[in-house]
Amino acid sequence: MNAVEIITKKRDGKNLSKDEIRWMIHEYVRGEIPDYQMSALLMAIYFNGLESSETAALTEAMIQSGDRMDLSAVPGIKVDKHSTGGVGDKVSLVLAPLVAAAGVPVPMMSGRGLGHTGGTLDKLEAIPGFRTQLSEKEFRNILAKTGFAMIGQTESIVPADRLLYALRDVTGTVPSIPLICSSIISKKKAEGADALVLDVKVGNGAFLPDRSATVSLAKNLVRLGENVGLKTRALLTSMDQPLGLTVGNWLETREAIEALQGNGPDDLMEVTFQLGGLMCVLGGCAHSPSEGIKILKEKLDSGEGFEQFIRMTELQGGDVKVVESPDKYPHQAKAIEVTSPVSGTIIQMDTQIIGILSVSLGAGRMRKEDVVDPSAGIVLDKKIGDSVQTGERLATLYTNKSIASDELIQRYCKALIISDEEEPEFPQLIHELIEHG
Ligand code: URA
Repeated sequence: MNAVEIITKKRDGKNLSKDEIRWMIHEYVRGEIPDYQMSALLMAIYFNGLESSETAALTEAMIQSGDRMDLSAVPGIKVDKHSTGGVGDKVSLVLAPLVAAAGVPVPMMSGRGLGHTGGTLDKLEAIPGFRTQLSEKEFRNILAKTGFAMIGQTESIVPADRLLYALRDVTGTVPSIPLICSSIISKKKAEGADALVLDVKVGNGAFLPDRSATVSLAKNLVRLGENVGLKTRALLTSMDQPLGLTVGNWLETREAIEALQGNGPDDLMEVTFQLGGLMCVLGGCAHSPSEGIKILKEKLDSGEGFEQFIRMTELQGGDVKVVESPDKYPHQAKAIEVTSPVSGTIIQMDTQIIGILSVSLGAGRMRKEDVVDPSAGIVLDKKIGDSVQTGERLATLYTNKSIASDELIQRYCKALIISDEEEPEFPQLIHELIEHG
């Protein structure tokens, strides 16, 4: 095999064989193929795409680059959920304990904040002491004890993805459907899940803002998931405004805790129930999503979901006192109020601007090595469709950075369109279920 020939073939739009793909990944992980050759191949894939058989071969090669978790000792059909990333998206924190309480094991391996979107690991680590880096044995034990565990990617799971993702990040090759699909599905398969529900975000805060590209991404993910033996469904949900009323790690974890206590905002709960209903069907505890939703609502009302969350927090080293009494949270940030410069109705929100602002406040990373501030973020008072008077509070920004308040306030206001003439366009929260690739 010869790397230049393989790169040239893909550059010229030809299909690569399974052996060629396997060889490139294997040699790259061994350090035998340099980054500049892999970058050239990634760019060729970015422009010319991959056939589904090539994407399947790439995914298989990535899975084989590392270990696969063996969760067979944990009884039941294990179902994970993955979101393509959003702003204020704390669904996993509410969903996983509820689905686990319904009897479906949830082995959840999540990521950190990426760009303007938040990450589940950063939110969980906002709880003092919470550990997201567990050994496989610990992960399995906690999963067996509580029905769910939430960790970060381990060193030995899909090392090819860690290397490739870092390279894609600096070579402009992240937004490629076959590369995104192989990256996500390889990790889910290797972590030992049997089934997967994907929350594919659509709208101005989504990873791919274009609707048709998003549908194509969802279909490709479902096809690839099924191809590698994962029962996979994708639900397209709105990211045309932040989900819930908070953005930022502790603020979102606190909102998720309140949601588990029965006080969650409607949009967060609706997305949680819709995804959870699908997980219940795939996990075999319900015949239909609506039956699954009914079970999840019972688990919420009985407090079992919240109890599961407390148990998991304790087992993963988190300070349970803070979960039980969020007012005892030890970290603080300066509060900056944003008031409305005009009267009218909020007709649009630019979710990406809000996500980027939250990163600037300290809730995300500008560079990979940045440390996130758990207390930074935004609490929203008003969302699309709400009317406001001049001087009324729109949101409160929390930060420990020394950025001029006026600049931050202006940036938040820029994300909103407030009008006293136009009617708001309420974003459709749940768009489409994709069951086949
Ligand atoms: N999330 C992933 O895990 N991989 C990608 O390529 C994009 C988003």
